[in-house]
Amino acid sequence: MTTTESPQVSPDPDRNLALELVRATEAAAINGSRLLGFGDKNAVDAAAVDAMRPVLGSVRMNGVVVIGEGEKDEAPMLYNGERVGDGSGPEWDIAVDPVDGTTLTAKSLPDAVSVLGVSPRGTMFNPGPAVYMQKLVVPGQVAGEIDLDAPIGDTLDRIARATDRSISELTVAVLDRPRHEPLVADIRRAGARIRFLLDGDVAGAIMAVTPGTGVDMLVGVGGTPEGVLAGCALRCLGGELIGRLVARDETEKRAILDAGFDMDRVLTTTDLVAGDNVFFAATGVTDGALLRGVRFQSHQIITYSLSMRSRSGTVRLIEGRHDPDRSFLVNH
Ligand code: FBP
Repeated sequence: MTTTESPQVSPDPDRNLALELVRATEAAAINGSRLLGFGDKNAVDAAAVDAMRPVLGSVRMNGVVVIGEGEKDEAPMLYNGERVGDGSGPEWDIAVDPVDGTTLTAKSLPDAVSVLGVSPRGTMFNPGPAVYMQKLVVPGQVAGEIDLDAPIGDTLDRIARATDRSISELTVAVLDRPRHEPLVADIRRAGARIRFLLDGDVAGAIMAVTPGTGVDMLVGVGGTPEGVLAGCALRCLGGELIGRLVARDETEKRAILDAGFDMDRVLTTTDLVAGDNVFFAATGVTDGALLRGVRFQSHQIITYSLSMRSRSGTVRLIEGRHDPDRSFLVNH
């Protein structure tokens, strides 16, 4: 008799929180996208927060929001420091952005996503008063080889060589902001194409490390909370984000330094999210290069999501079909 050896499987599969978290980004994306094109970014945000919070509250976890909607005084829900989950089980740090791209949604423009990241308690970077950071995101082929202060042409040259292309075949994602004019001039001089992001550099960072999105790198100054969220995604996907805190003016600089941050320090992906068991979920709100947006069909709402985990490296693309008459996620 011949015996067939079964393939090796982990003897102790544990819970993948990202599969539960994706319900929270689905709920936020659905409710936020109901206001597509209405022109009110605050209403988009409020609708998404309203929908995400109860779903997160139902998850069996002891979470605390590290990256949230702001300090408690301004944000009544999902504020920094708020406890989320049912309070049981292991302790986690939570990063939420119920809609990254509220203006995109309000104006019906591409690339708005709902995102959520989780890592073990105490392992997520808390940016305090640092609203903005410089960011450089590159794909896995050049991870560990980049320098935040190197000329952009050198970094592009590395990516070109590592991916067997010419610089003219590379596309760099940059937030379309006046502050980036010198950067944009440098990228053009180096000969690369530019994908301007009107908003939403979490999706931009994920695109930069995901083949087939048409983006090969992300660079520029964007939100620090979004940097931490992108860090969660990159811990799962590979690739690298490095950055440095920046201040808009002297008062902000003083506040950052007084809070004990080193503004010269180059932050790596693991500085932003140090845990070895990181979860990330994202759902498309508007159509984008990364994910399709929410579709409202007859008696069915369709969502497109990503769910991933750093420990296993599993990335799932999830198409959700929600019944508006029965689903808890869509009834708000
Ligand atoms: P919203 O908060 O309006 O969704 O905008 C998000 C965003 O575009 C981020 O993706 C980005 O990091 C940040 O804003 C950039 O900030 P600013 O618009 O001030 O340049």
